[in-house]
Amino acid sequence: MSTFDPVGTKDITRLADLAQHEIADILATAAEFKRNPGSVAGALAGRSVCMLFEKASLRTRMSFEVGCFRMGAQAIYLDHRDTPLGTRETLADYGHNLERWCHAIVARVNSHATITGLAAATRVPVVNALCDLHHPCQALADLQTLLERGFDLNHSRLAWVGDGNNVCHSLVEAASILGFGITVVTPKGFEPDAGIVSQCVARSMRTGARIEVTDDVRAISGAFAVYTDTWISMGQQDSAEKKARFEPYQVDRELMSIAGPKALFMHCLPAHRGEEVTDEVIDSTSSVVFDQAENRMHAQNALLCHLLAAKKHNPGAAAAAAAR
Ligand code: CP
Ligand code: NVA
Repeated sequence: MSTFDPVGTKDITRLADLAQHEIADILATAAEFKRNPGSVAGALAGRSVCMLFEKASLRTRMSFEVGCFRMGAQAIYLDHRDTPLGTRETLADYGHNLERWCHAIVARVNSHATITGLAAATRVPVVNALCDLHHPCQALADLQTLLERGFDLNHSRLAWVGDGNNVCHSLVEAASILGFGITVVTPKGFEPDAGIVSQCVARSMRTGARIEVTDDVRAISGAFAVYTDTWISMGQQDSAEKKARFEPYQVDRELMSIAGPKALFMHCLPAHRGEEVTDEVIDSTSSVVFDQAENRMHAQNALLCHLLAAKKHNPGAAAAAAAR
């Protein structure tokens, strides 16, 4: 006999699991949660969220745990850095257990196949908290950060400089869904995944997104923001040879000047100062990296509400109904 009754079933294995209107709703809720911190209280009272991590984290773990606390939900951390998922028992058995207790599963895993396997095996929402290919929660926070700084989805352009990695993929998906421009600049051989880019280019035919991939840093001229990330992602072999290929792509003052005097600097963090970015840039007034980190919590709170709140959380309406 089971008392299992999921309050949500939609998985976020990648950003493209969300439609344009869903992202717009989530970002509006995130902005409201940030503007009015009291509005988040009780939004997910009584919900339990399992957080399983095969890789290290500061921001993702903290922002989900603190965010759940503020919404009245419980976050339970499961450390899988020593025993990767699927080794002690099958992934499906693992998921069938978790869905009996938890309303959602947030997972940071080595392989995207683990996210899709868990999503297929369970009926509760599975949220990708980073894998080798995607980082959708980061992209939601980045969109919130860009919009609060005046990014215009119709006219502004984001520049990515560095490795064509998981964070890059989620930002290209964001551009393709919302219809904004993105210029991805990588050394030859380190471009984003060709399959993901071609799906995004196909989607951009409907949304009007402008997606450009090049190895020429001059293409960032006029960008609203310059975004970079580590040259060696978690799970990749550290390589002096790879780092040497990226040196011309270090985001320093000279590279920022190509974008223009008003360009913002963005980084998902953790940063490797002196490699992908200089201290001068990350510590400059153009840098919004800690806004991005804060917005992880607001955007994820809004995402969890989107997935788990029986009705859209609307504190104003709830108070008005109670007063009637
Ligand atoms: N940006 C980000 O995901 O940070 P963590 O790896 O610290 O969670
Ligand atoms: N690309 C980085 C992002 C860390 C948040 C990594 O996967 O390690």
